[in-house]
Amino acid sequence: MPTPSNGLPRGWPTGKPAPSVMLESLAGEELTWPARMLMPDETTPAPPVATIATLGQHEGQSVTLRGWLYNLRESGKLLFPIFRDGTGTIQGVAHVKSVSAEVFEALKGLTQESSVIVTGRVRADQRAPGGFELDVEGLEVVQRVPESDPYPITLKEHGVDFLMEHRHLWVRSPRQAAILRIRAEIMRAAAEYFDQNGFIRTDPPILTPAACEGTSTLFPVDYFGEPAFLTQSGQLYIESTALALGKVYSFGPTFRAEKSKTRRHLTEFWMIEPEVAYCDLDGLLELAENFLSHIVQSVLKNRASELTVIGRDRAKLEAIVPPFPRLTYDKAAEMLNQAHKDGQLEAPFEYGNDFGSPDETWLSSQFDRPVMVHRYPADVKAFYMEPDPKDARLALCVDVLAPEGYGEIIGGSQRVSSYELLNSRIEEHKLPKEAFEWYLDLRRYGSVPHSGFGMGIERAVAWICGLDHVRETIPFARTLHRIYP
Ligand code: 4AD
Ligand code: MG
Repeated sequence: MPTPSNGLPRGWPTGKPAPSVMLESLAGEELTWPARMLMPDETTPAPPVATIATLGQHEGQSVTLRGWLYNLRESGKLLFPIFRDGTGTIQGVAHVKSVSAEVFEALKGLTQESSVIVTGRVRADQRAPGGFELDVEGLEVVQRVPESDPYPITLKEHGVDFLMEHRHLWVRSPRQAAILRIRAEIMRAAAEYFDQNGFIRTDPPILTPAACEGTSTLFPVDYFGEPAFLTQSGQLYIESTALALGKVYSFGPTFRAEKSKTRRHLTEFWMIEPEVAYCDLDGLLELAENFLSHIVQSVLKNRASELTVIGRDRAKLEAIVPPFPRLTYDKAAEMLNQAHKDGQLEAPFEYGNDFGSPDETWLSSQFDRPVMVHRYPADVKAFYMEPDPKDARLALCVDVLAPEGYGEIIGGSQRVSSYELLNSRIEEHKLPKEAFEWYLDLRRYGSVPHSGFGMGIERAVAWICGLDHVRETIPFARTLHRIYP
């Protein structure tokens, strides 16, 4: 972008500061870029920079928007561009007589996703989706997308494979951008809940020497000639920090070499995990319901317009307040068998198994808020789970199933606190003892009852946004058959 030698926009009155945009050049150097506008009168300073989301504060005023051309409708002497700037979209209006010939020509036939800096007057309009329209005054085309190589994602329908292949561009669509904004709010509110409730964030390692959630889904890495693995969960490490700090949480990427190709599985996903010393399963259930309610209520409060963009039914989310229903595994198994007898489920449920996808879907459709299924048979659960003192065949664990058929979003448990029991579990599960010596130390030195859970962010986003697949819940999904872009 050429800059006049005095650093001021063309026609800029001397003595007036120019608005500037900071860009990063490819070399990584900062470049100050005065917004050079094609104003009707080239001596007028460009109006203040605003965002589409905050246009309400500028009604009746002229503003500068920096963004992209999302769409353009042309009707003779009238142009109706739709601009987007990352915070929202707004329709502009430009009449051949209301703008300079230069601006009209620059806008006419402008290609989708060309980057533009536009000035215009904000006008309230009841019919406009955001409540406002922009009467275009000035325009600078920052980069014009050439007709010979048009933006590949048109406003027509595209197949999901095509869109995933162009995910780096697909994220620009208003719907995808709204989902990513809601995801960010879910992550913010989740961390906020723990920060406000006395939890300390401690970050576990991503490179680990051993499995946490079963050895079949590990991604191996060559660690200077030694085998290592990408973490499946930070749990074992935050058990250590919980015994140091009391209440802790971790938040980071986790990896599962899942061969499953379902709408719920990613190979790389983000997990937030609290771990609490002197906490039993009942305490954990209370934590889970308060935590989830806080997240959902925060999204309702802070991302209302995004929920509208994606067409999410707010009433379904407004119902998400404590207490959540609690269901033993035994009771859930009974319900599943009855559902099978009533013809609502194809396959009968075999007591002792973990729930299959259709079972979870059916169970979670029976309630208007997340249902907390607890005390599964120990045999189908992880080695570190504390047995129920009333029936050692059962584990003191919980799966929280989101409503509307979304299934498991949280998995957690009370942890084995006895050294002897943990030691024998490690042997039974044929885990490499040396790699778990440090974990056994937590039972040698000041062991206490403690509990924690993990929530997969993408599963939570899918549920809260009402999406039918987790691939749209993360900027770049990693699945069995996709690692591009
Ligand atoms: O139930 P999981 O496997 O539990 C654990 O990893 C425990 N160590 C957590 C703990 O107690 N601190 O995983 C926890 C959650 C699931 O409920 C689900 O939301 C998500 O992580 N999850 C996945 N999300 C997307 N794709 C996958 N392949 C997932 N596997 C688990
Ligand atoms: Mg689980």
